[in-house]
Amino acid sequence: MTIIHVAAECFPVAKVGGLADVVGALPKFQNKNKEKAEVIMPFYNLPFTQKNKFKEIYKGEVPLNGVNYTFRVVTLLKESDFTINFIDIPELLYTDYVYSYDDTIRFLAFQIAVLKWISSWENKPEIIHVHDHHTGLIPFMMTQSYQFDDLKLIPTVFTIHNAQYQGWFSHEKVGLIPKFDFSKVGLLDWSGEINPMAAAIKCAWAVTTVSPSYMEELKSKANGLEDLLKYESGKCVGILNGIDTEVWNPETDEYLKRNYKKTTAVSGKKANKNWLCDQYGFNRNKPLIAFIGRFVHDKGCDLFAEVFTNYLNELEVSILILGSGDPKVQEDLTNLNDVFEGDYKYVSGYNEALSHVIYAGADFLLMPSRVEPCGLNQMYALRYGTVPIVNNVGGLKDTILDYKEVNGFGIVIHEVTVTEIKTAIEEAVQLYNNQLLLKKIKNQIMKIDHSWLASAKEYQKLYQKLKK
Ligand code: ADP
Ligand code: GLC
Repeated sequence: MTIIHVAAECFPVAKVGGLADVVGALPKFQNKNKEKAEVIMPFYNLPFTQKNKFKEIYKGEVPLNGVNYTFRVVTLLKESDFTINFIDIPELLYTDYVYSYDDTIRFLAFQIAVLKWISSWENKPEIIHVHDHHTGLIPFMMTQSYQFDDLKLIPTVFTIHNAQYQGWFSHEKVGLIPKFDFSKVGLLDWSGEINPMAAAIKCAWAVTTVSPSYMEELKSKANGLEDLLKYESGKCVGILNGIDTEVWNPETDEYLKRNYKKTTAVSGKKANKNWLCDQYGFNRNKPLIAFIGRFVHDKGCDLFAEVFTNYLNELEVSILILGSGDPKVQEDLTNLNDVFEGDYKYVSGYNEALSHVIYAGADFLLMPSRVEPCGLNQMYALRYGTVPIVNNVGGLKDTILDYKEVNGFGIVIHEVTVTEIKTAIEEAVQLYNNQLLLKKIKNQIMKIDHSWLASAKEYQKLYQKLKK
């Protein structure tokens, strides 16, 4: 089957969060399952696009807002596990960031260009799989815009990676969308605005989310889309993300200070932990608890400063935080660097290399998310033998079982509060002091298989159903 994934991010080209990891891995594992999957994404001005070579395969024009934007489709020349194509519109997309304030126009131009390019294919793809709201108008345009009549019969799948962000814009801008029968404008609307995520839920042939529990949660908490998701539930399904076990492999990971496998995990993890402890002045004998992520409210990181300010003195742990986002959280966490020097370190920014060492060297990974559609960090942690501390939501609920349950292996909280986070850290300390049990758990979690092969098969089944 030929599948084309349309997305704003794809690892290793451009990554803001887990969307990139998914779009950078799913096609690869689909190809291993004997599909033919490709990606199309914007051509940004980022290190990857600066360093690599590309070949032009198509040229076209997108008229938008009175301007005729010329675009090129280029394809990556470097050998890779799947073909990566790019829409190059220099004036709109060649930026040194992925997202910004003018995303409506940027991603609308991107989506129209994608469809123009696909329209030109002699053998059209069998499935068009679009990801998150930046590509959410594609199913609408394919079924409603006169210009893309030839694409009407291609099945579309829309994956919701995060329903919090929906790409809303005002009806005043409806003229930007290629001409369609105006009596169908309601398909674009949700609560008086044009809502690309809602439009995709209405128009795509199938809708998926990145974990079964998140799909259930969306029916009662979806930032305004609850009723729509309930109404469309017949075509919705939750498919748990996998992880790229080739990129995330402690045996071969080039970022690690020492590689390890299950049988050498104790010494291997210790070498990575020691490196981190020496780097940040931590006591090597204390449990090391880390957080890696975007500072947004959903991740629960706004509570960290209070937890650490009130309790770090009494907790026998070292805390390492890597991330950026909400300026207030950044400021609060930065201020604690001096207060708790030697027990706490906040490293600001995005650092792929350091994140790998942390997954390997930390004893525990903290993820007190209020909302977590899937979450990949906890699965990386498992693979690297690091015990996740999670809230019982979304993909975290689907992947982590509390160690106090039969066959359990993580620490699970049920409410995101300062007290619950503190209690979870205390539990982590207790577990750390029971080295025999901790060793057994680490051994157990490294055996859990969250590779993409199984999830890729679920997508395959879905595509096949749509094609019938
Ligand atoms: P989300 O997509 O909501 O951010 P996920 O758990 O799905 O959450 O994926 C997050 C991805 O981004 C993981 O690969 C994680 O390692 C990475 N990541 C997040 N913040 C950082 C950071 N500051 N430095 C390096 N990697 C990060
Ligand atoms: C989103 C979600 C995250 C998920 C990722 C990949 O960014 O917030 O939970 O893992 O997409 O699907």
